[in-house]
Amino acid sequence: MFQRTEPADCSIEWDGAVLPARTGEPLAAALLAAGVVRLRGTVLSGAPRGAFCMMGACFDCVVQVEGAVVQACMVAVTPGMKAAP
Ligand code: FES
Repeated sequence: MFQRTEPADCSIEWDGAVLPARTGEPLAAALLAAGVVRLRGTVLSGAPRGAFCMMGACFDCVVQVEGAVVQACMVAVTPGMKAAP
């Protein structure tokens, strides 16, 4: 289980749920700290995918942030950020 070392200072929205986060931390880290490990399913089988490499190499953390397709490990949290699978 991933745990944040400093307390949350804002919230984000993940697929309609409000989650604690810390401004500037990677979105993938904020989601992991909140217990979100499944970020999407594969197109063909629906197999679960979530953050794996945490350095922009695997693309398993692809999500949507306010309409843009991004790698969650490469995007910094901003207060009120809205993300979805
Ligand atoms: S976790 Fe691998 S690209 Fe984001």
